[in-house]
Amino acid sequence: MNAQLSSPARAVLVTGGARRLGAALCEAFARAGWHVWCQYRASGDEARALAHRLRGEGASIEAVEADITTAAGRRALMAQLTAAAPLTCVVNNASAFEPDTGADFDEEAALRQIGVNLIAPLDLARQLAAQPGTHECCAIHVLDQKVYNLNPDYFSYTVSKLALERAVALQAQSLAPRLRVAGVAPGILYPSGPQAEGNFAIAAHANLLRRPIDPVDVAATCLFLAQTPSLTGTTVCVDNGQHLVPLPRDIMFVTDELLKRHLPS
Ligand SMILES: NC(=O)c1ccc[n+]([C@@H]2O[C@H](COP(=O)([O-])OP(=O)(O)OC[C@H]3O[C@@H](n4cnc5c(N)ncnc54)[C@H](OP(=O)(O)O)[C@@H]3O)[C@@H](O)[C@H]2O)c1
Repeated sequence: MNAQLSSPARAVLVTGGARRLGAALCEAFARAGWHVWCQYRASGDEARALAHRLRGEGASIEAVEADITTAAGRRALMAQLTAAAPLTCVVNNASAFEPDTGADFDEEAALRQIGVNLIAPLDLARQLAAQPGTHECCAIHVLDQKVYNLNPDYFSYTVSKLALERAVALQAQSLAPRLRVAGVAPGILYPSGPQAEGNFAIAAHANLLRRPIDPVDVAATCLFLAQTPSLTGTTVCVDNGQHLVPLPRDIMFVTDELLKRHLPS
């Protein structure tokens, strides 16, 4: 593993790449001819199975275990990957999503989410820009439509994504011309935490287009951002217009209320 890459193909690191949106991202980049580093923490079996399946289709992909929550872990990861070949893109997909509010947030849990969701993306992007050589690179921060459609649930998560959304332009200014920085803001894609399938099935329609958002569209948008040289400092919502449907609480709780009101108890 981690042998010198034989061709100067564009290489991308997808954090949290083993499952769900991460796996869709790995598939999109791998099928477009990129070399993909699929970073995982706990999902080693899924990451290796994904890599095996995509290599079976002729793609170039390696699963790589790393702790992106520490500076040392991120430095070691970047050193390992760039020893193989220059890295062209990082898609900061890994994310911690824990329920809390502005009134009850726990400092340790808030810092954990800020570490994974904000500091890790900023640091990986900065390290991408600092690689030796002159090739242009691109960092893509995966955000959430919540940053344009605030409600008080998932407070620490939302704070971390709000800061990352603001950092898209700030980092684009700071690290140009070496690095392009872009954001993608998906709407609800998968059930999260305690969300039941029935709740998710309803919640997935609470957008302008009244249908579930296809994760493949989010991944295709990230590929577009990575491959479009004129694009930097901006974010694209891929959410069927969910950010234009304001709700007083996170959609999963609104749906729970609807279900309680309309289903016999
Ligand atoms: N799911 C949605 O509906 C939705 C909606 C809007 C935006 N988004 C955004 O889209 C991205 C992907 O969403 P997702 O639901 O597919 O993600 P996810 O399954 O919740 O998490 C993706 C990966 O992040 C890694 N991760 C989670 N907590 C971590 C921690 N404390 N330390 C290190 N790594 C950690 C895990 O990797 P391992 O499994 O290898 O440990 C996990 O598989 C996220 O940035 C999310 O904010 C998702």
